[in-house]
Amino acid sequence: MHFSDNLISWYKQNKRDLPWRNTTNPYKIWLSEIILQQTKVNQGLSYYYKFIEHFPTINDLANSSEQKVLKLWQGLGYYSRARNLHATAKVIAREYKGIFPSDYNSILSLKGIGDYTAAAIASFSYNLPYPVVDGNVFRVLSRIYGIDTPIDTPEGKKTFYLLANELINIKKAAIHNQAIMEFGALICTPKNPNCENCVFNNSCIAFANKQINLLPIKSKKIKQTNRFFNYLIIKTNTSETFITERKNKDIWKGLYDFPLIETSKKVSSFNELSKQTIFQQLLPESATLILNKVSPETKHILSHQKIYATFWHITTNKTKHLEADFTKVNSSSINNYPLPKLIENYVKTF
Ligand code: ADE
Repeated sequence: MHFSDNLISWYKQNKRDLPWRNTTNPYKIWLSEIILQQTKVNQGLSYYYKFIEHFPTINDLANSSEQKVLKLWQGLGYYSRARNLHATAKVIAREYKGIFPSDYNSILSLKGIGDYTAAAIASFSYNLPYPVVDGNVFRVLSRIYGIDTPIDTPEGKKTFYLLANELINIKKAAIHNQAIMEFGALICTPKNPNCENCVFNNSCIAFANKQINLLPIKSKKIKQTNRFFNYLIIKTNTSETFITERKNKDIWKGLYDFPLIETSKKVSSFNELSKQTIFQQLLPESATLILNKVSPETKHILSHQKIYATFWHITTNKTKHLEADFTKVNSSSINNYPLPKLIENYVKTF
């Protein structure tokens, strides 16, 4: 049987019933795909429902504040995806009168939409014959066809794209694309794939050669950086503290956190922390400072960074220097702001 027919027939019998599969509305499909780039289906579902409830149409999303969008996205990480989602909704509302474009190149020209997402929207919404090539597809094709070209090289990308393009069933692009991703998610999984129940197990090259665990190949190791964050939880004699919106080109732009002193290594004492230039700018020497509590170091892992965070709880009588750059909030209302997961988790312990 032809690859696509075999795949589609497996899909029809085994697919999960997911809300974005019961629609051809490009807004809903776009939203689901952006969410699913960040998380697995199980966790993505609640975010999808939340977004659709708050923003039933693309115009509702366009008319929202960015802060509300980030708040709904909270916990998914990679917040530029949420900012791009919002920016693109505004472009569609303004330049396309709220109607999602229906040709591949216009879809691809939108901010935050790359080859994969454009192919997903074009095929799922309009049945256009563009193959999706995501992590699932690299894995499935590298194994079944025994391709050891690294997937993170231009040559690898081209090889897999050409093969995916050959294999797609032009008349059934939507179901073919859903099927290949579902197959990667349910059978041909990264670890412990279910080869026994695989409809390709008599033709899969990696299975025959016992190379399942070796494929797909990546050439580069992701470079990790270590960062040391010292957060100041500053109080006067009220239950208020200071937070600020992150504005720089760094992780978590648009989210809120506490006054931060980033250091190149772990800070081992309050004395050492108080010698940092930023500390002295925030809390001048004339202020009376009491260190109430120091949290244990928390490790927070992102895709390219490991963050080692310590929270220093300080009481002071002088907050004048802080008031220009920070927002004074009641501790109980911090959670109304969009927060990085690291901060969200810590605030829960208050
Ligand atoms: N992962 C990415 N897109 C998906 C989809 N449409 N269904 C299930 N999992 C996915």
